[in-house]
Amino acid sequence: MEENLLEIEDLSVHFHTPEGIGRAVDHVSLSIAKGETLGLVGESGCGKSVTSLSILGLIPSPPGRIHSGHIYFDGKDLRSMGENALRHVRGRDISMIFQEPMTSLNPVLPIGRQVAEPLMVHHRISRQAALEEAVQWLNRVKIPAPEKRLHEYPHQLSGGMRQRVMIAMAMVCRPRLLIADEPTTALDVSIQSQILSLMEGLRHETGMSLLLITHDLGVVAQMAKRVVVMYAGQVVEVAGLQDLFERPFHPYTQGLLKSIPRLGSRAAGKKERLKEIKGTVPSLLDPVSGCKFADRCPRVFDVCRERQPELEAIRDGQQARCWKTQFSERSGRYA
Ligand SMILES: Nc1ncnc2c1ncn2[C@@H]1O[C@H](COP(=O)(O)OP(=O)(O)O)[C@@H](O)[C@H]1O
Ligand SMILES: [Mg+2]
Repeated sequence: MEENLLEIEDLSVHFHTPEGIGRAVDHVSLSIAKGETLGLVGESGCGKSVTSLSILGLIPSPPGRIHSGHIYFDGKDLRSMGENALRHVRGRDISMIFQEPMTSLNPVLPIGRQVAEPLMVHHRISRQAALEEAVQWLNRVKIPAPEKRLHEYPHQLSGGMRQRVMIAMAMVCRPRLLIADEPTTALDVSIQSQILSLMEGLRHETGMSLLLITHDLGVVAQMAKRVVVMYAGQVVEVAGLQDLFERPFHPYTQGLLKSIPRLGSRAAGKKERLKEIKGTVPSLLDPVSGCKFADRCPRVFDVCRERQPELEAIRDGQQARCWKTQFSERSGRYA
């Protein structure tokens, strides 16, 4: 069996707001094997970023709080680690490309220092050597004239440039786990594909694992071997890449797939209308008694509104949280 580098077990994260308790992450479990790229997908607001911030102990508190669950990295429970120990894990063993670059860039430090710093802190190499390595990484993420840019401050760079600096910062220490939260959204398509290849290259070279968070199923198709689909704070489907695209079980996954242009459809000259999933994500404040997707589901039936389905294995390597799928796959009834 492949060894897991990261295991999240039954994680729940709540936000305590004046309006009530928001269950942003609701009993989520997932694992990533050594060297694996796991895709984490779902609409905006479904809990992808909160799940990933929990790994590094970066949930803003208050209002957020990890309510329950365990997060194991290489067998060690990150939640029971002190802030000091966790600081060593961050940036050295696990690094993160944040969805919003300015959250991780320091506005008053030149970017060269910021890319070099993790090397000086975690690998204890000299400032000069670290700056030389920083130039190489800025070059790899396609920042033009990196020797000059070293001395610039984040506000002097465009959004896309800032995102690339952050990607360089995250990769410079060659982490064992790279968490990339919508890493290429601010980048144009050609730079996006270069950055994805750079990540893939580093993974290949160092055997790191990659948690790739995106709402772009095209990016997932290019990078991931296995995919976790989240909806309203819960995992609703886990599948290998091919199964996800060819036989998705959960009606939410099926809806997501219908909302992307099919590969080749434009080349074939057909203009396909993209189907959006009708309705909106339920409020995370009110506990729902049945399935959280019931109000938007084209296959809803009575039990869906009464009891919440569990995430269950439907077939080898594929799990879904859906009553209809579970009934029809098991007994042939209700299909
Ligand atoms: N600082 C916060 N205060 C209150 N609620 C928050 C905060 N951050 C996130 N949330 C809640 O967590 C949910 C999940 O957010 P997030 O993980 O950022 O979604 P995603 O990354 O999938 O778009 C949001 O819908 C929101 O309700
Ligand atoms: Mg997010």
